[in-house]
Amino acid sequence: MEVIYKKNAEEIGIEVGDIIADLVKAKPNSVLGLATGSSPIDTYNRIVERAEKEKIDFSRVVTFNLDEYVDCGDETQTYRRFMDEHLFNRVNINKANTHFPDAAHPEKYDEEIAKAGGVDLQLLGIGANGHIGFNEPNTPFNSKTHIVELTEKTRSDNARFFKSLDDVPTKAVTMGLSTITKARKIILIATGINKSAAIALMCRDRDVSCPASVLKDNKNAAAYCDEAAAKYLL
Ligand code: F6R
Repeated sequence: MEVIYKKNAEEIGIEVGDIIADLVKAKPNSVLGLATGSSPIDTYNRIVERAEKEKIDFSRVVTFNLDEYVDCGDETQTYRRFMDEHLFNRVNINKANTHFPDAAHPEKYDEEIAKAGGVDLQLLGIGANGHIGFNEPNTPFNSKTHIVELTEKTRSDNARFFKSLDDVPTKAVTMGLSTITKARKIILIATGINKSAAIALMCRDRDVSCPASVLKDNKNAAAYCDEAAAKYLL
């Protein structure tokens, strides 16, 4: 995995957004693996900016999101809603081409991705505990799409989006680590001091205690880190 250092989140958003916009221009039927959360927001804004300016056509793009909450009582916090707001409603994507894992049939997601030809580019954030998708520490590296119990750390990190900690779902359905690593290109975004320990662990040993470390020796993976997230590497 290559580590690319950038000054701040805005710079990362521009560079990663340009990579994705250029990919869609070159291959209009690209298959994108997408993430939610704070990390990809600047990237989505850049994609939208480029799409508007250059009339980039997203009508044939196919997307597979990393994860979705199970039984999310607050409909405004579903990851589908997040993606509508930050990307899907802002480009001419065909919503029928946008996919989220289904808690009723998690195992089918890997088949659907394979049927679509596999993921060309997978976007990732990283949790403060090293999770990618909702693959919490000690998830096997060979895992496929599955249901997870969220750790208290992840629930409290995500409580900022909900009215209270009690409203944060306790379960999610996520692509597994083997699902993620099958992508032909992987870009992980990490910004802020809160991610610095996880980034250091990710680069140290390939060990299930840090799920993101599954990418350590992956030649198709790059981590874009700002100065704060890269604190222990610089
Ligand atoms: C979101 C996801 C998570 C987040 C991670 C970081 O789809 O899969 O792994 O990428 O929790 O979240 P942020 O970017 O909000 O710090």
